[in-house]
Amino acid sequence: MTDTGSSKGAPKEEVAELARRRGYLGQAFEIYGAAAGFYDYGPLGAGLKRRVENQWRDFYMREGFYEIETTSVLPRSVFEASGHLESFTDPTVVCTRCKNFFRVAEDLDVGKRCPDCGGVLEAAGEINLMFQTRIGVPKAGSEEKTKSEAYLRPETAQGIFLNFQRLLRFNRDKLPFGIIQIGRAYRNEISPRQSLIRLREFTLAEVEVFVAPSDKNSHPEFETVADRQLRLVPASSNTNYELGIENYEDKSVGEAVRSGIIANEYLGYHIAKVDEFLEGLGITRAKLRFRQHRRDEMAHYATDCWDAEFLSDRYGWMEIVGVADRGDYDLKAHASSSNTDMSVRTEQGKIIPHVIEPSYGIDRIFYALLESAYYKEQVGKENRQVLKLKTELAPIKAAVFPLLNKAELKEKAREVFQNLRDASIFVEYDGSGSIGRRYRRQDEIGTPYCITIDYETLDDDAVTIRERDTMKQVRVPIAEVEKMLA
Ligand code: ATP
Ligand code: GLY
Repeated sequence: MTDTGSSKGAPKEEVAELARRRGYLGQAFEIYGAAAGFYDYGPLGAGLKRRVENQWRDFYMREGFYEIETTSVLPRSVFEASGHLESFTDPTVVCTRCKNFFRVAEDLDVGKRCPDCGGVLEAAGEINLMFQTRIGVPKAGSEEKTKSEAYLRPETAQGIFLNFQRLLRFNRDKLPFGIIQIGRAYRNEISPRQSLIRLREFTLAEVEVFVAPSDKNSHPEFETVADRQLRLVPASSNTNYELGIENYEDKSVGEAVRSGIIANEYLGYHIAKVDEFLEGLGITRAKLRFRQHRRDEMAHYATDCWDAEFLSDRYGWMEIVGVADRGDYDLKAHASSSNTDMSVRTEQGKIIPHVIEPSYGIDRIFYALLESAYYKEQVGKENRQVLKLKTELAPIKAAVFPLLNKAELKEKAREVFQNLRDASIFVEYDGSGSIGRRYRRQDEIGTPYCITIDYETLDDDAVTIRERDTMKQVRVPIAEVEKMLA
């Protein structure tokens, strides 16, 4: 099937505007002049992000994978071995007039004019994206200086590879096994202009699955995902963003692996799991697809890669998760550079495991989730903006209101509020403004329920609960509120 033109619908500046206004996000160190590519999550943003991360943890724990936590600062030797020092680069152009650098690729095509001053651009070679730092104070002398050189990790994966022997032992020397890690990654992106989409410090959630190469085509649980329908864009489909040509195939994972579109069951299984996770979060499924990398866009360590892409109203198709087959590249590289045995004894003999890696960018998923959840509707004479977040993700589960600003109602509302907080249900108290305005505010921040205490409550010990999406109101005894919200 062919479809032309990638971004449909009006740009949704409103989502970003709402996120800023309601404390989901803000530019980092703004009072000292913000730099592009750094964002802070406010109280609601941090709450939502944490819930996404916890769902991700639970999802992969159910696969039987263990979580580890490794350092963000690593010595030069690691990245020399991993190939990042040489190959973790972006091609750039420089403006001959204002001297600013820009990244080639989606941000800019060579040949176009400088987006800042309109000057002529010329090729400026490859620039490495890693942030450099030092470990300790180097002794005098140039060799010592190189030894102290270190980098902030551009991916969390290397920390997992460096622990491979210990992890293998932990797994009683058996394959396959999976390890997960969530943490900050750092990339000194050349000219980031797309808020949360291209950050210089961001959160990666990565899964490294170690498997014997001879087992890649027999995943024990493959049948559980085989019927999952996916929209696939194979590298051979001649999709060309620049020309606005997008060719895709709708296929089940089972069919895709059988017909060789997806190379093996392990890769297919994990692509399906990514799809299942994103759907479970509430990302609009009709706006998701999996696109295979062409040879010329593959990372230096990958033999195959499929990106989960989300069709953003604001940015067009954007990668939110990358699923790579890293083969034996990393373990081999570290084995030879560090003189460490990274092999595993199997019935077939001594082998170096292969790695299948789903790599989730949590910030881009956060943005895709906001776009997926956001809608606007006319209610009477007013516009209502809603974040239709799933209850388990909403930063605030319910808001408790006294109907009127009267002492006896406020006291009762405070009591209901405190009891819910004591039961570890994160609720908010709001006693000011008209009830309509209070509802609108909660709709905008995605709170699924509003609980109102009125004069009847004082007689019947029941409250009115209003549901965010339908705006329907039901009367519920206070004694049942906790159970209902939990
Ligand atoms: P892109 O092609 O957009 O630069 P990438 O191919 O470099 O992305 P990967 O290296 O595959 O991305 O990283 C894995 C995931 O990390 C991506 O799917 C994305 O969600 C996230 N990610 C990568 N770079 C950034 C960034 N600068 N800001 C926020 N998230 C990022
Ligand atoms: N670990 C995946 C990546 O950095 O692209």
